[in-house]
Amino acid sequence: MAGMASKLMHAVQYVRYGGGASGLQHAEVPIPTPKKGEVLLKLEAASINPLDWKIQKGVARPFLPKKFPHIPVTDVAGEVVKVGEGVQKFKPGDKVVAYLTAAIGGGLAEYATANENMTVARPPEVSAAEAAGLPIAGVTAHQCLTKAARLKLDGSGQPKNILITAASGGVGQYAVQLAKLGNAHVTATCGARNVEFVKSLGADEVLDYKTPEGAALKSPSGRKYDAVVHCTTSTGVPWSTFEPNLSSNGKVIAITPGPSAFLTFALKKLSFSKKQLVPLFADVKAENLEYLVKLVKEGKLKTVIDSTHPLSKAEDAWAKSIDGHATGKVIVEA
Ligand SMILES: NC(=O)c1ccc[n+]([C@@H]2O[C@H](COP(=O)([O-])OP(=O)(O)OC[C@H]3O[C@@H](n4cnc5c(N)ncnc54)[C@H](OP(=O)(O)O)[C@@H]3O)[C@@H](O)[C@H]2O)c1
Repeated sequence: MAGMASKLMHAVQYVRYGGGASGLQHAEVPIPTPKKGEVLLKLEAASINPLDWKIQKGVARPFLPKKFPHIPVTDVAGEVVKVGEGVQKFKPGDKVVAYLTAAIGGGLAEYATANENMTVARPPEVSAAEAAGLPIAGVTAHQCLTKAARLKLDGSGQPKNILITAASGGVGQYAVQLAKLGNAHVTATCGARNVEFVKSLGADEVLDYKTPEGAALKSPSGRKYDAVVHCTTSTGVPWSTFEPNLSSNGKVIAITPGPSAFLTFALKKLSFSKKQLVPLFADVKAENLEYLVKLVKEGKLKTVIDSTHPLSKAEDAWAKSIDGHATGKVIVEA
């Protein structure tokens, strides 16, 4: 690998805010050099998250991206080809999955550097595409259920009633599967075309979100939810829709909280309400990722793949995610 830094790789980047899929540009750029504590990965697969194109749209302007041009995408799987100074856990040839962080990105490329502490070994049973789906979407589902809803995923806790909205999406599909491992009764919402699919993931009852019952989020079996993992991309569901469906100390966990969600959060806190709305921003941790990789290896969790696109057509993957109708994860293969 000597002299690799001077070599070029194919990458997909953008040079300004906005522009969606047509704002992406293909370029030949230098292969990055792993710094202290970093590994250089030859990428096999990357998965798109809405956060990636929201950053392009300017949601974290002016902080993210840190500079232009920016190579987006954080969730990747590949093979270690070089290690930086001090790296202990990995050596060239190791297959891994990594979270590159929103501040740095770099996933839409042939190579990327990853922090050793955000990199996890990938056993041969777990494909690159399946692993690449996990970091943001899988860890968010995991943290919603374990930290916010306090579900024990080994099934040892009290059974709970959980509603998962947008259960066909990247986060939702993992949330349904994980909630079932935690022995929850799962009510889920999705579009009509995905009802059977969401049932096949383990959901006990499924509501079509375009019907009046679906819009009202009402459990067909009359259950009150101990937790709602609210995954729809829109922020529009008012508290008055959730409230009558919650158990006496039910919680709505909002992963796309808009201004009204923050207001509800504050009002419920200030009034010491037992029913609460909790905004949640996932903190992607290697230990959570390791746990999810283990579940995939054991066949207890799967990554549902909406579509796979070559790096040369990364803009199609980008457009598919922006469109908001993916069933599972959108994957780019390097
Ligand atoms: N806070 C955090 O840490 C965090 C982490 C990850 C994601 N997020 C956010 O969470 C949201 C979901 O992410 P994702 O990756 O799961 O998105 P995604 O994969 O793009 O979600 C698409 C899915 O949502 C379904 N859907 C859309 N509107 C719906 C509705 N009203 N009811 C039921 N289903 C609906 C779509 O079904 P149809 O095609 O049938 O419409 C589609 O299957 C995004 O806003 C993302 O930015 C936040």
